[in-house]
This record gives sequence, structure tokens and C-alpha cells, in this order.
Amino acid sequence: MRNFNKNALNGKRAIITGGGGLLGPHHAIALVEAGASVTLVDINEKGLKRAKTKILKVNDSAKIATQILDITNLNAVEKFEALQTKHDTNFDILINNAAVNPKMSEIGGQNSGRIEDYNLNQWNNEINVGLTGAFICSRVFGSRMAEKNKGVIINISSDLAVRAPDQRVYSPSESFDDIKSYKPLGYSVVKTALIGMTRYLAEYWGHKNVRVNALLPGGVFNKQPEELVRNVSKRTLLGRWANLNEYEDAIVFLASDSSAYMTGQSLIMDGGRSVV
Ligand SMILES: NC(=O)c1ccc[n+]([C@@H]2O[C@H](COP(=O)([O-])OP(=O)(O)OC[C@H]3O[C@@H](n4cnc5c(N)ncnc54)[C@H](O)[C@@H]3O)[C@@H](O)[C@H]2O)c1
Repeated sequence: MRNFNKNALNGKRAIITGGGGLLGPHHAIALVEAGASVTLVDINEKGLKRAKTKILKVNDSAKIATQILDITNLNAVEKFEALQTKHDTNFDILINNAAVNPKMSEIGGQNSGRIEDYNLNQWNNEINVGLTGAFICSRVFGSRMAEKNKGVIINISSDLAVRAPDQRVYSPSESFDDIKSYKPLGYSVVKTALIGMTRYLAEYWGHKNVRVNALLPGGVFNKQPEELVRNVSKRTLLGRWANLNEYEDAIVFLASDSSAYMTGQSLIMDGGRSVV
């Protein structure tokens, strides 16, 4: 996409959690194309390397740094933030993007996502990364923003914050009888809770000029199984999945002064899936 003002984020510093995954690099491309410098953090070293290469391919002068960081580890996040403070390189923009986002083609067998055999370790991990991790990063980086009286936090939620999953899309016959993998409960819970966290923090830090909003993307096409692609497309008003780059303009909108009078809100971009 990239229809935004190329100077909208000149001189801004941004941090993106889960930056080594599928969407993180595209959030980064958007921010660097709008003039920001970006730090990607993740626990996946290979993912971070891939992400950096991808971003530099689009913009070879991109100011991009990577850091292995487990966002569920408060001490580690605090230490990393202290380094930024020491060098006076504090972040102006935080994107809470990391989540346990199981690819539905990879689930199956014992790890079916069925409520009846939903693995508690899986549940705890989903909550820990998607929610506790977002809280830790908001607390550590957001507090510094509040001190400086400026900042933006964007929580990456999902259309599953405003609708139920409709598990029939994971069935070849679109019936409840032969679903092998269910979108897990933890995912819906985390994404919905992020909306509450968005409102809470927007109220908490509004008077400190820290804006907090959520982006609710719909499913991104990433070579999913054919029948899943068809089933979801049928249920989406625009008749298709999102392309990987279709959230880039929204990221710049939410991160920049284009949304200066917006906080505590949820921007739903799901091709119209949640309105039917
Ligand atoms: N891909 C989609 O179709 C889609 C749709 C709607 C919403 N979303 C949301 O967008 C965000 C990004 O999705 P994605 O598809 O890129 O997911 P992804 O699984 O590709 O990336 C998530 C990244 O988070 C990292 N991560 C996991 N635990 C971590 C930890 N403890 N500390 C730091 N990093 C950690 C993973 O290593 C991974 O690189 C997620 O919040 C997801 O829920 C994605």
C-alpha cells in the first residue's frame, strides 16, 4: 500500500515485538518508509535475520536494529529499556505485536485446540506472550513515554476480538462433525483482552500525551490450505484474505499525528468479516 506521507515519522524511534514473524517486518517497512528508525525484538533469531533482510530489500537505507528479547521476562525488558535510556535513544512508538498465533495447518493430532483436551501449557503460553508480554512492554516502554509526555502504543489485536472464530472454516465439509483443528480459546481471549488493555492504558496515560490504540486485522493470506482460503473468503464481504502489506498504511496512521485525536480505540480492518 504505502499511500502515506513519507515524512510522517521523521526522527521517531519505534520498537516492534514479535518482529521476526510474518507481519512484524511489514509494520517495520511501513515505519521506516515514513522516516522512523525501528528495533525489532523477538525470541526467534532466524526470524529476526529474515526480517532485517526483507526490510533492507525494500529500503536499503532503513535504520533497522534487531534484538533477541523475551517479552515475558520483565527483568530482561527492563534491562533493555535501561540501555536505551542510558544512550538517550528511548522509543516514541511501541507496537505490541508478538503473540502465539498458531498456523491452523500446523495444528492437529493431540494439539487440536478442542476445549475438552486443551493443553494448559498452551493456554498459559498464549496468555503469557500475547497479554502479559504486551503488559510488560507497555509498562516498561510506556512509562518512559509518559515521563517524556509523548508516545504511541499500538496493540495488534485481531478481528477475533469482536467475533467468534466460526470453527467450521477449518472443516473440509464446513460442518462441526469433522473439524480436526480448532482455533484455540487462548487466542480469542488474548485478542479481546488487548482491547480492554488499550482502553485502560489510553485513560491512564491520556493526560501524559501517550496515545494507545488497537489494530484488529483479519486473516492474512500466507499459502493456507485451499479449502480454508475458500471458506474464509466466502465469509468475508470483500471475498478474499488480506495481502501482507495491507496493514502498512494503518500502522503509519496510528503511529503518526494523522491520528493525533484518537486514543483508546479499535481500528477493525477485516475485509468486512465481522459485520455479517
Ligand atoms: N497473520 C494473521 O493473519 C493475523 C491476523 C490477525 C491478527 N494477527 C496478529 O498479528 C500479530 C502478528 O502475527 P503474525 O502472523 O506475524 O504472527 P507470527 O507467529 O508470524 O509472529 C509472532 C512472533 O512473535 C514471536 N514471539 C513469540 N513469543 C515471544 C516472546 N516471548 N518474546 C518475543 N517474541 C515472541 C514469535 O517468535 C514470532 O516471530 C499477532 O499479534 C497476531 O495475533 C495476525
